[in-house]
Amino acid sequence: VIDIRKLYAQTGAFTYDPGFTSTASCKSDITYIDGDEGVLLHRGYTIGELAEQSNFMEVCYLLLNGELPTADELDTFTHTITRHTMVHEQLATFFRGFRRDAHPMAIMCGVVGALSAFYHDSTDIHDPAQRVIASHRLIAKMPTIAAMAYKYSVGQPFLYPDNSLSYTGNFLRMTFGVPAEPYVVNPVVEKAMDRIFILHADHEQNASTSTVRLAGSSGANPFACIAAGIACLWGPAHGGANEAALNMLREIGTVDRIPEFIARAKDKNDPFRLMGFGHRVYKNYDPRATVMQTTVKEVLGELGVTDPVFDVAIELERLALSDPYFIEKKLFPNVDFYSGVILSAIGFPTSMFTVLFALARTVGWVAQWNEMITDPDQKIGRPRQLYSGAAQRDYAPIGTR
Ligand code: ACO
Repeated sequence: VIDIRKLYAQTGAFTYDPGFTSTASCKSDITYIDGDEGVLLHRGYTIGELAEQSNFMEVCYLLLNGELPTADELDTFTHTITRHTMVHEQLATFFRGFRRDAHPMAIMCGVVGALSAFYHDSTDIHDPAQRVIASHRLIAKMPTIAAMAYKYSVGQPFLYPDNSLSYTGNFLRMTFGVPAEPYVVNPVVEKAMDRIFILHADHEQNASTSTVRLAGSSGANPFACIAAGIACLWGPAHGGANEAALNMLREIGTVDRIPEFIARAKDKNDPFRLMGFGHRVYKNYDPRATVMQTTVKEVLGELGVTDPVFDVAIELERLALSDPYFIEKKLFPNVDFYSGVILSAIGFPTSMFTVLFALARTVGWVAQWNEMITDPDQKIGRPRQLYSGAAQRDYAPIGTR
């Protein structure tokens, strides 16, 4: 049935590569990863330097434009993003259509997709100016939508953006502030949150980014493409992993139970995996996890939180990294291993973790989508398949089956 020669004749080449482990679907100037060395560069700058010295607005500018901004360029960009933080009043009615206990990611998939119904004037993908406006709108409105998803889930009124605050400070206020009460942004928490956004801003052709590109390759509008990316990100093997990692750490509960869970992760008959461990590309320490580990300590110290889960995480990492199974398979903590501990200390419920990831990754999705549209080699994405079903056969009328 599988006629490889015919496929070869049709295409000139045929590769069977489930999960695209060794097939590049595009070329890109945005992000570089050396998984063996644990290196992640955005437009040539290391993630460590960006997380330490830069801020999320600057990283957004860098990802979108290819160069770090001058002070004036950064001011203008920040001002533009700030101007777009409001969402259409009617969008609030969308939220009210969801069950009160809906998962915030379910709400995000629907509401972000619905943006294309509100912003018809920036959906012509062939007009560079409209692409810029759509990109700015998406980056700017995502914190507002994410905060609204949170407020809806806890039954509190939505807060309008306060554009005197930073991008991250504004998001924290819209999420945790209460109407008519002043909200003071904690600078340590603001810095930590901003750093988490930087760490999640882009990661080359991961599953959700590839989804955005694939959706965009048909000419779909940017809002629909980002909604597709959000849907893909929701899976526990991708953006849902930080939620799953924290749930796992809580389930382990105490340091003495760690060996039991390590044994389960190694057992081929048990589907259990150590969540927050392993990565398709990193076969060394994920450089983002290093920054996360430092940030956890800062946030827990600032907030005076003593969370036993953090002790479990540290000890689990130590034991796993000295275990031959994890050493041989090159399984190291990834960015999601510690992020849940920080987000929980800040006050986010686990159901919001992937929403925060989506918020931060929007700039990467948008930058990659823009790059794809302007790539002269761009074609509609259309993977081939290796057919393994029935050969041609005669239709049997229902009475004879
Ligand atoms: N715990 C235990 N064993 C693992 C783990 C883990 N977390 N991850 C991989 N392995 C084992 C697999 O069982 C497999 O063993 P085998 O060779 O004996 O069959 C081997 O390591 C390779 O695993 P694959 O699933 O083939 O590797 P792949 O590159 O496809 O998967 C993935 C990467 C999905 C991230 C995987 O490591 C995993 O499921 N990790 C847990 C979920 C997670 O943390 N995801 C977050 C990823 S980062 C992000 O999205 C931001």
